[in-house]
Amino acid sequence: MGTKEFGSNACLYSFPSLPQTIFLLYLSPSGGGNQTKNLSFSPFSLANPYTRNPIFKPRTTSLTLSRRRRIANLISGPLSWKMDRLDGPARLMIVSDLDHTMVDHHDPENTSLLRFNALWESLYRHDSLLVFSTGRSPTLYKQLRSEKPMLTPDITITSVGTEITYGDSMVPDEGWVNVLNQKWDRNVVLEETAKLPQLKFQSETEQRPHKVSFYVEKGHAQDVISSLSDRFEKRGLDVKIIYSGGIDLDILPQGAGKGQALAYLLKKFKEGGKPPINTLVCGDSGNDAELFSIPDVYGVMVSNAQEELLQWHAEHAKENTKIIHASNRCAAGIIEAIGHFGLGPNTSPRDSSDILVSKLDNFNPSHEVVKFYITYERWRRAEAEKSDLLIQSLKHICHPTGIAVHPSGVEHSLHECIDTFGPHYGDKQGKQFRVWLDRVFTSQIGSTSWLVKFDKWELTDDGRHCSLTTILLNSEPGNPGAFSLLHVHQTWLEGFAARCQNDWIF
Ligand code: GLC
Ligand code: MG
Repeated sequence: MGTKEFGSNACLYSFPSLPQTIFLLYLSPSGGGNQTKNLSFSPFSLANPYTRNPIFKPRTTSLTLSRRRRIANLISGPLSWKMDRLDGPARLMIVSDLDHTMVDHHDPENTSLLRFNALWESLYRHDSLLVFSTGRSPTLYKQLRSEKPMLTPDITITSVGTEITYGDSMVPDEGWVNVLNQKWDRNVVLEETAKLPQLKFQSETEQRPHKVSFYVEKGHAQDVISSLSDRFEKRGLDVKIIYSGGIDLDILPQGAGKGQALAYLLKKFKEGGKPPINTLVCGDSGNDAELFSIPDVYGVMVSNAQEELLQWHAEHAKENTKIIHASNRCAAGIIEAIGHFGLGPNTSPRDSSDILVSKLDNFNPSHEVVKFYITYERWRRAEAEKSDLLIQSLKHICHPTGIAVHPSGVEHSLHECIDTFGPHYGDKQGKQFRVWLDRVFTSQIGSTSWLVKFDKWELTDDGRHCSLTTILLNSEPGNPGAFSLLHVHQTWLEGFAARCQNDWIF
């Protein structure tokens, strides 16, 4: 059994025979004389994301309730998303469209998406909510996630606001299904649309319980829409017809759509006593228009927005100063809007070159970990300056007795890992190589000790790989830039192990 003290009141136990398990032992800082009586055991398994629950209940309690709750959230949080994931109201709720808004299909490097990811995970994930709202069905949404370096949102709204799901496992909101079932008759929609030859059915995956979708040439769109409206009215069916991207025509229940889905969510948060402090909606095309008509939200139409959205804005929302047409494309436009409306910091860690220098007033472990991996990416892409100084500063933030457990199960000292890392300078130059962190959750577990847990992704010419990573680190009181990594523990996410294990350094 290995033991390591870290912080003034915590101790780390690891068992070589159980390589995937570590135990944390807390000593109460207010031990009242006899500290051993106040030992608190907080063991948890790191092996499998689906069994991240404590194996034993704490014997005695030396942690405050809120801290215990935060640790419990840290361990199980990313898996079982709940409306009350956050202690208080969300500081910022971003509700963003995906195609040509969050995701720039004209940028194979995904530069602005990666900038947004780093900003979100380092400074927003812990107290804010990320909502993706897309026209895609769950099937095409999952396909996009497998192609692009996208984060895991808290809430996913798919099929043009007709399906709302929570967390990574995408648990459906049954209440929303019931709302949409009112006054909807899919068969009438199919009967009437069959009479118009200008309508071409989209693929089977895009036909959903509350959404029927077609392609219509731009030139025919107006005529088709008014003819359809008349026909549905005659049949007594109140539906919503939305034209997007100059080609897609969606027919939904009148109460559906991206805007209505957002209104439903906001109402739910309000009823739970936690309406977001600020909400920013982001879009580029026709089906996003309704997002901008929800009261009190800020809105950004990205610079590359479609004519149909700009026209809607000119006709319906020109006077609304809470909506901007950004000067930047896609996710860069979202970052621009955060700054424009003063919704919080909008400098991504990817925006600075002297990345290891801390510029924050308070120690923020998520920020440090995100910066560490950007440095790692830049070193291997030969985008950082090749200097011994950088290797020295990396060593400096690794505790001399610190250990890294590689996802293969092999252990090395952290200093050894940095020595291995050095010669990898530029080994990914000219190749596909991107690194990003998802679902970064931090918890302070002692007066100077922190646990950071996240999914670490690498995109290489060999495919994409991911390890579930836990890092223990110590901060230095009064010195926000100073900290040391004590323990790094990684396990492969099932189905995403790297084929060449030596290529995965941290
Ligand atoms: C996405 C969907 C499609 C829909 C379009 C516009 O592309 O896959 O079905 O028509 O968004 O909402
Ligand atoms: Mg779009």
